[in-house]
Amino acid sequence: MKNIRNFCIIAHIDHGKSTLADRLLEFTSTVAEREMQNQLLDNMDLERERGITIKSHAIQMNYHYKGEDYVLNLIDTPGHVDFSYEVSRSIAACEGALLIVDSSQGIEAQTISNLYLAIGNDLEIIPVLNKIDLPHAMPEEVSDQIIELIGCDREDIIHASGKAGIGIEDILAAICERIPAPKGDPTAPLQALIFDSVFNSYRGIEVYFRIFNGTLKKGDKVKFINTGKTYEADEIGVLKLNQEPRQEMSTGNVGYLISGIKNAKEVKVGDTITHVDRPAQGIQGFEDVKPMVFAGIYPVETSEYEELRASMEKLQLNDASLVWEPETSAALGFGFRCGFLGMLHMEIVQERLEREFDMTVITTVPSVQFHAYTTKDKMVKVNAPSEMPDPNYIDHIEEPFIKAQIISKAEFVGPIITLCMDKRGILKNQTYLTSDRVEMTFEMPLAEIVFDFFDKLKTISRGYASLDYELIGFRQSNMVKLDIMLNGEKVDALSAIVHRDKAYDWGKRLCEKLRELLPRQMFEIAIQAAIGQKIIARETVKAMRKNVLAKCYGGDISRKRKLLEKQKKGKKRMRQVGNVEIPQEAFLAVLKLD
Ligand code: GTP
Repeated sequence: MKNIRNFCIIAHIDHGKSTLADRLLEFTSTVAEREMQNQLLDNMDLERERGITIKSHAIQMNYHYKGEDYVLNLIDTPGHVDFSYEVSRSIAACEGALLIVDSSQGIEAQTISNLYLAIGNDLEIIPVLNKIDLPHAMPEEVSDQIIELIGCDREDIIHASGKAGIGIEDILAAICERIPAPKGDPTAPLQALIFDSVFNSYRGIEVYFRIFNGTLKKGDKVKFINTGKTYEADEIGVLKLNQEPRQEMSTGNVGYLISGIKNAKEVKVGDTITHVDRPAQGIQGFEDVKPMVFAGIYPVETSEYEELRASMEKLQLNDASLVWEPETSAALGFGFRCGFLGMLHMEIVQERLEREFDMTVITTVPSVQFHAYTTKDKMVKVNAPSEMPDPNYIDHIEEPFIKAQIISKAEFVGPIITLCMDKRGILKNQTYLTSDRVEMTFEMPLAEIVFDFFDKLKTISRGYASLDYELIGFRQSNMVKLDIMLNGEKVDALSAIVHRDKAYDWGKRLCEKLRELLPRQMFEIAIQAAIGQKIIARETVKAMRKNVLAKCYGGDISRKRKLLEKQKKGKKRMRQVGNVEIPQEAFLAVLKLD
């Protein structure tokens, strides 16, 4: 146990965490050079393409340092705010953290939020100034920021470049010397924290754990404390590049467990594994992850509903944070109301449905969850605008609020405050981290930031702003349901719940945007926005002048067929509502109201 080091890497997105992890694996010969692929830990295709780490993973390295053999367990963490709960669990499984800061960017919001999590878990922090190979690196300035933030000495900061392979040996030395060995009692009742799980279609769910107390043997009867379910530990082992089975694993170690679990819902990150016949207490801090954004998912072809259901079921086996239930829309027919951790998660789900299951789907207007009170204390949870009770029977509505932490350069403070106020934010605090770096804290409605807020923030700060947020509760707000009608017919899937003060402006801009996005048809389309019975905006899509097929009258039949084929392809991600065709972009038009 004395030579085990459990550590994670915390960094803001794109500061080079995965690249650095690759170098550590290379340097410790955990992977042979020919097996080395860039960003080895990001082994989902989608992750590699997008260059982001979606799920955290763990890997064990062996390192010989000053005459001793060390076991280094690296727990990789995702950088995006949608997945911050997973970060918090991986941090809880470690004794130390490498704090990576891009020397050309400086400290960002997730650097700080993850750092606070790490400090909250008493981790030893090793600051690493990364990407020092870049010509525009600012090592002095960024070192000042780090010193001010964590109060370390200048000499404690390791200068490194994952790309150029600089400073890797120093980092490994610091891991061995500065990070404490795990504590705990191998003879005590078993207490192992689940910090991640991975779906494997052949072997079932692989559970990743860290043992805090006790010893786990292959074949043991184990219980997951929060779900109450029991299993047999069919296989346990450590995570190298491949899994290496072991007969026994003890306190301080990190590994995997396979016990034939088929459904991701049974494995909750943060849960505790213990023995059935000698149970321990659960490890503190367990939380059920809650969806933040809700949207409908509908098949483009109504006949594919059952197939979509089967695909969603399979996807959910492997993504425990995805929740859904059947939903019916007057406009779109049968589909599903889904809950996501955030917009990125929603995009990923849509993309995975298309890639892995070959489904073409439409996602409807995203919404947060509102609480509608029909009396002072009778509350209805509203995950979709169509679920909103009749306004005549509503006492009041509450909406989710967040605490948002934004870090940027001093010169952008003005525009950022203006943007946040426009999004109904309240400035709570403003601190200068250095003379040029400002941290601002706002309280804001979640509904205002889940959509395009982050893009706007990036634009007005020319990329120099970062955001982190957490839910702080529900507050009363004056919300109304805004309906959209096409040729007089209400399209429920286009409705949105918006703040009353903004409803007129929204309605107007939404109609304008829809006019741009709806393809012309043979007839005129009237687009109207309404609150209750009252029409507040109107636009018209003019009829198309000519039928495309008219050109080929009497012409060659194969040419005609080609044209029809082309039209069919163009129809992907379109839904027929009444006699109007609505493309996917139109459902997401609310995200792009400018
Ligand atoms: P997430 O996993 O999405 O949080 O990103 P990350 O922090 O793992 O960053 P990643 O390793 O994917 O690197 C982000 C980008 O920075 C990539 O384009 C890398 O090639 C580049 N990069 C990483 N390390 C270095 C470095 O030391 N020097 C230079 N010049 N570029 C680097």
